[in-house]
Amino acid sequence: MIDLSNSRPFASGGNRHCYQHPDFPNRCVKVMLPGRVAELRQRAPWYKALTGDSRFDDNAREVAGYRQKVLRNAAKDSSVWDHLPRWYGITQTSEGPGAVSELLRDEYGTPAMTLETYLKKFSLDDPIRGALERFSQWLRATGVLTKNLLPHNLVVVTRKGQEELYLVDGLGNADFLPLSEHFAVSRRRYIERRIEKMWKRIHWEISDRHIPWKKAERL
Ligand SMILES: Nc1ncnc2c1ncn2[C@@H]1O[C@H](COP(=O)(O)OP(=O)(O)O)[C@@H](O)[C@H]1O
Ligand SMILES: [Mg+2]
Repeated sequence: MIDLSNSRPFASGGNRHCYQHPDFPNRCVKVMLPGRVAELRQRAPWYKALTGDSRFDDNAREVAGYRQKVLRNAAKDSSVWDHLPRWYGITQTSEGPGAVSELLRDEYGTPAMTLETYLKKFSLDDPIRGALERFSQWLRATGVLTKNLLPHNLVVVTRKGQEELYLVDGLGNADFLPLSEHFAVSRRRYIERRIEKMWKRIHWEISDRHIPWKKAERL
């Protein structure tokens, strides 16, 4: 059991608090915000609310994401890890079940900046364009399946003198039927769709955002 009761999260998303692991400084522990699973369940349409809690629990979805075919049996030095935090499983904490993964840090040791922050600071400059291109090629080459790729779920790390992106949230398959898990053609199409949508979202984030994202997404 990890005691996080006196720790402060270094970051929080819409669903989880992220803490630095008290025993391993290179790991982070993510726990669901108090009451969040119940809240999401209440808001969901009835047919979704009928299913188990795991649907509304980002940690459970992350477990499933790391269990996908190309990651399940991947060797430690495989290129599938080039843009993903290493995964250490679920651990009990004082704040509830915690998902433990590699904490990505910048050269000063502080948690890495998200792509969202990077775009606000530097916009779409050449180094980040290069990083996005390499990240996309990696998705195509490895076949790693992700949900929609959002700038606040990618972090920017310097590796060998250049910026690289890591996906810290959103692994897994967004489709109801997991065809892309089993068929190469579906997989390729699925991945291209995620990449296309990622660019759409990036261009929206650096725009004046006069169109709401929900609408821009459909254009
Ligand atoms: N492995 C990690 N390394 C560094 N920062 C991280 C890591 N995982 C998450 N973060 C930071 O914490 C924030 C929230 O984490 P995330 O997993 O996206 O939670 P949520 O499920 O609430 O969306 C991220 O936007 C990022 O800033
Ligand atoms: Mg997130």
